[in-house]
Amino acid sequence: MKVTITPSNKISGQVKVPGDKSISHRLAMLGAIAERKTTINRFSTSADCTSTLNCLRQLGVQIETMAPDQVVIAGRGLWGLRPSTETLDAGNSGSTIRMLSGILAGQDFLTKISGDASLRNRPMSRIIDPLSQMGAWIEATQDSTPPLSIRGGTLRSLDYSMPVASAQVKSAILLAGLYANGETWIREPERTRNHTELALQQFGVEVSLSQEAIGIRGGQKLLGIETIVPGDISSAAFLIAATLLIPNSETIIENVGLNPGRRGIVDILIQMGGSIEILRETLLGGEAVGDLRIRSSPLQGGSLTGSLIPQIIDEIPILAVLATKTKDGLIIRDATELRVKESNRIKSIVENLRAMGATVEEYEDGMAIPGQQPLQGALVTSQGDHRIAMAFAIAGLVAKGTTTIEDGHCAAISFPGFYRLLERLTSS
Ligand code: S3P
Repeated sequence: MKVTITPSNKISGQVKVPGDKSISHRLAMLGAIAERKTTINRFSTSADCTSTLNCLRQLGVQIETMAPDQVVIAGRGLWGLRPSTETLDAGNSGSTIRMLSGILAGQDFLTKISGDASLRNRPMSRIIDPLSQMGAWIEATQDSTPPLSIRGGTLRSLDYSMPVASAQVKSAILLAGLYANGETWIREPERTRNHTELALQQFGVEVSLSQEAIGIRGGQKLLGIETIVPGDISSAAFLIAATLLIPNSETIIENVGLNPGRRGIVDILIQMGGSIEILRETLLGGEAVGDLRIRSSPLQGGSLTGSLIPQIIDEIPILAVLATKTKDGLIIRDATELRVKESNRIKSIVENLRAMGATVEEYEDGMAIPGQQPLQGALVTSQGDHRIAMAFAIAGLVAKGTTTIEDGHCAAISFPGFYRLLERLTSS
């Protein structure tokens, strides 16, 4: 479905964004293997999190949706999942297939799990290697892509140094670690988001945290909880960027998750001169949250590299769009991982920016985008990638002329209602 965006001369209003997608996946999975009931308020209404709920249902978990964003899960305990005769469908969601594989590695039955065309292209050796070392049997295609067939059981503990900085991989190993004899340790090349560690602790699991490694003892029981999910900072990022870039604008986004491993986007934009105030910062279910007040601002540029990249990995598409409007532009390096996301994001960004008349230099691990560039409305394509669709919707708001996004509806993968919200905020 094509989406048409016309330029806007103001964005304003006070809004909430859907619950955090990363946190919602984890809470649902942990709720399923916990004892007793788990109630999750402000659960992400994204298509990705619906995929997680559906996979869990296929494994025999009873889940009621009381309101679109309130989910009640009847936990089945560590060993209570049931085999599914059908292949589990993770849809577009890398988090679902990778993290759930950690749990499936602990089940002594065979499960097949797959997803859409994009997911069937994504690398899985990063989870197959450690989970196989723990004793699970996993089969994938020749290219180590889905469908995956997994037969597990009681696992061996592992001391594992991850070759890629990936929270999904870390989480899969932590979840498998619950089914292992002894203590499993994970060492990350760079720090990644710690939502799994925090969520496990909420469910009563002891997690050892040090500078060098994260540890988990197998066999620990989880106890169901009632909790609230913070708003998704990766969704808020699009509204933050739009507000900073469009003159005379001011928005307040309520209850946004500000986990240190996720708030890089806010910190970077403040450093670049963005007017972003954090109001009422507090803790919600172990996670930092706050309201953000954003006002239009001139922005400097800079460079985004190294250990910063995992903290902003999902925000790079919108940062790349924003870069064209900064004073000095942005250089992004060490971000090769972008090539194996929902689309090859380096390629998608570069092609769409060029289609809008911008100059951009492509590197294997990133790109250089000069600042102070006009954008021209154009036909762009999302490549079926939700964050590309939304980033170029914001580009369309600050471009000259009309922008058409091919396959724009995929925004609902993470942010259902995105275009309606944008329309409301730009016409008020
Ligand atoms: C996620 C981690 C990141 C991110 C993805 C969600 C998570 O992926 O890009 O959108 O919820 O753990 P990697 O862990 O593969 O870097």
